[in-house]
Amino acid sequence: MIFAAKVSEVPNFGKKVVTVEGREILLINVKGEIFACENDCPHQGSPLQAGIVKDGHLSCPRHGYRFNLKTGACLDHPEFTLKIFPLQLQGDDIMVDLG
Ligand code: FES
Repeated sequence: MIFAAKVSEVPNFGKKVVTVEGREILLINVKGEIFACENDCPHQGSPLQAGIVKDGHLSCPRHGYRFNLKTGACLDHPEFTLKIFPLQLQGDDIMVDLG
């Protein structure tokens, strides 16, 4: 597990992009629950930080594909999967597992 950011740096219902070991990681806060995923859409690489979070899914701003924040599964085109990173909270620290 590697330090990614402080929980307090990711606003509720907001996002933050961090670089961890050279990879862009998107952190998302949904009502206090933190998720970590890759910031590049698996479809055509659009940055996901401008995506909309709704009903447990992140939708890509480019073509609207919706990805489950827990599994990365794509609702619209199952052949695409968003990389979700396991994480742990240690106090105010978000620790991610890049695998
Ligand atoms: S680039 Fe994300 S849905 Fe096409």
